[in-house]
Amino acid sequence: MKDDEQGFSTRAVHAGRGFSENTGAVMPPVFLTSTFEAGNPEGFDYTRSGNPNFRLLDRTLAALEGAAHATCFASGVSAITAVVSTLKIGDVVFAEENVYGCTYRLFDKVFAKFGVRVIYADLSDPANWAKIAEVRPALVWLESPTNPLLKVVDIAGISAVAAAVQSPVLVDGTFATPYLQQPLALGATLCLHSTTKYINGHSDCLSGAVITNDAAWQAKMIFAQKALGLQPSPFDAWLTARGARTLALRMEQHSRTALALAGWIEGRPGVRFVRYPFLASHPQVELAKRQMRAGSGLIVLELDCDADAALAVCRRLKLFTLAESLGGVESLVCHPATMTHASVPRAVREQVGIGDGLIRLSVGIEDAEDLQADLAEALNGLTSRKG
Ligand SMILES: Cc1ncc(COP(=O)(O)O)c(C=O)c1O
Repeated sequence: MKDDEQGFSTRAVHAGRGFSENTGAVMPPVFLTSTFEAGNPEGFDYTRSGNPNFRLLDRTLAALEGAAHATCFASGVSAITAVVSTLKIGDVVFAEENVYGCTYRLFDKVFAKFGVRVIYADLSDPANWAKIAEVRPALVWLESPTNPLLKVVDIAGISAVAAAVQSPVLVDGTFATPYLQQPLALGATLCLHSTTKYINGHSDCLSGAVITNDAAWQAKMIFAQKALGLQPSPFDAWLTARGARTLALRMEQHSRTALALAGWIEGRPGVRFVRYPFLASHPQVELAKRQMRAGSGLIVLELDCDADAALAVCRRLKLFTLAESLGGVESLVCHPATMTHASVPRAVREQVGIGDGLIRLSVGIEDAEDLQADLAEALNGLTSRKG
C-alpha cells in the first residue's frame, strides 16, 4: 500500500517515522541539540533551521493534510507572523472580520507599521467577495469556523474567486483540524494551524504550522522559520507529533459531545442563541456539512446578561475551567470579550458580534452526561434580565 493510500489514522501514527536511530526505539527520541556536526547525512546544521523532531512533525502534518509541505513554528502566532512577514509595504490583506484577537492585533499593531493594510469583511457572505477582484489582495485571510463566532466560510467558493486574480488564500483551520476539514483540497493555497490546540490536544505546549502544496510558499516558510527565529523547541515539536497520533479519535469524541450539548443548550432560559456548525439553526449548516466531516468541539452561546453575569456563569462551572485556549482533552470555558478578544476594540468587537454575554465552550473528551450536568447547574444560577 502506498503511503498516500493509507487512512487518516494510519498516517497519523506512521507518517514521518524513520529517524536515524539504531536502538529499536518504537517512539522517536527528543533531539535536544542546538547544533549538528557538519556533513551529517540528513543535512541538519542548526536547530533554528531544522531538527529531526521538526521534520517528523512536518511530515506528519503534511500527510494529514494530504499536502506536499509543512513547516512547524513555535506557536500559531509565530506561524501567522511567518506568513505575514512575506508581505511588503503597500500590500493589502483581505480578511474575514471575525479573526482570532491576536491575529487582529498583529495586523493592527505590528504589520500596519510596515505598511501592510488589512481590509475586513464578512467573508461568510459571498456578496462581499467581489472586492477580491477589485483589490487583488496579496493575501485573502480567513478562519473557518471562526474564533469565536463559529461562522463558516465557503473555502472552495472564495478560493475560486481569488484564484481568478492570483490572490493566494490562507485558511486558519485551527478549529477544524485536518481531520474535519481539508482547506488545500478545497483550493486554498496555505493552511495554518495553531497546533497548540486540537492537533497537540493535551494543552501541554505551544506550536503552530503552515501547510502548502506550493513550493515557493514553502521556501518562504522555511526562510521565515530560520531568519525570524520562529522555530519551536524540539520537545514541543515532539509533544505535538505525539498528540497528533490520536487526533481522529479525539475529534470524533469532541464533535459527538459538542453536538449533543449544543442541541441541549439551545432554547434554555437565559440563552439568546447557540452557534454550532452542525446544529440545524446554524446559518451555514449546509455549507458546514459539505466542507467539514463533523462540527468540532467548540460551542458559542450568548447569554442574556452583562459581562459580570456571564463571567459568573463561567466561574460556576466545575468541569469547564475558565481559561484561554481550546482543543485539549479537558473542557474549557472562555469569555471572549474580556479574554481572547480583549485586544479588539469594543466597537469592532460589537460590530462583528462579540458581545459581553458571549461565552465559548471548548468541549473536552469527558463524559457528555457529566458536562451536561455541570452546564445545567451553572446556567440554572443565571439571573436572566427578562427574569
Ligand atoms: C484560530 C486561531 N489561530 C491562531 C491562534 C494562535 O495560536 P497560538 O496561541 O498557538 O499562538 C489561536 C489561538 O487561540 C486561534 O484560536
